[in-house]
Amino acid sequence: MPCPPSITLRPFQEADTAFFAGMASDERVTRYIGDGRPWDEQTIQERIRAALQEDPLDQVGASRWFLATEANAPVGIVVSSCKDAGVEVGYWVSPDHWGRGIAGAMLDAALASIPDTYGSRNLLARVDPANAVSAKLLTRRGFQLDTHVEGLDHYTLV
Ligand SMILES: CC(C)(COP(=O)(O)OP(=O)(O)OC[C@H]1O[C@@H](n2cnc3c(N)ncnc32)[C@H](O)[C@@H]1OP(=O)(O)O)[C@@H](O)C(=O)NCCC(=O)NCCS
Repeated sequence: MPCPPSITLRPFQEADTAFFAGMASDERVTRYIGDGRPWDEQTIQERIRAALQEDPLDQVGASRWFLATEANAPVGIVVSSCKDAGVEVGYWVSPDHWGRGIAGAMLDAALASIPDTYGSRNLLARVDPANAVSAKLLTRRGFQLDTHVEGLDHYTLV
C-alpha cells in the first residue's frame, strides 16, 4: 500500500496569493464551488483579504486559511470559518496532485489542529451532492450527512 503523502499545514500568507489564484481561476477546481464558475480577479482578492483579516476566532464569520505543502511546494489549501453551529472546513487541491491522497492528508491535519484553534469540536462541511470524492473524504473521517439545504449536503462531525 503506498505511503500517504507527507504534507505540512501552515497559515496562508499574502505571498501564497498566486497559488490560490491559480486554483480559483481553474474551472476543474471551482466546478462544485459556489455557482461552479472560476472566480474573477476581484473575487479572489476580496476572499484573500477576508481570509487574512484575522478576526477574533469566536466571531461568527471569522476565517483562517492554511496552505498545504509537500516537500516545501504548495499542493492545496484548507479553509475554515466560524459559523453559529461550529467550524466549517473546506479543502482544495491543485489538480496536478489529485488522486494521490493529498486531500485526505490535509483533512487529517486540519481535524487535528482546527478544534484547538477555534476551541470548538463541532466541525461542519457543505458539499455539492455530485462531488463524490469530497463526500467520501468526509464520511471516511466520521462526518455524517445531516441536512440538505439550498442544493448542498451539510455534514457534521461532533
Ligand atoms: C475534492 C478534492 C479536494 C479531492 O482531492 P484529492 O487529493 O484528489 O483526494 P484524495 O486523493 O485524498 O482522495 C480522497 C478519496 O477519494 C478517492 N478518489 C480520489 N479520486 C477519485 C476519483 N476520481 N473517483 C473516485 N474516487 C476517488 C480516493 O481513493 C480517496 O478515497 P480513500 O479514502 O478510500 O482512499 C479535489 O478533487 C479538489 O480540490 N476539488 C476541487 C475543490 C473541491 O471540490 N473541494 C471540496 C469542496 S466541498
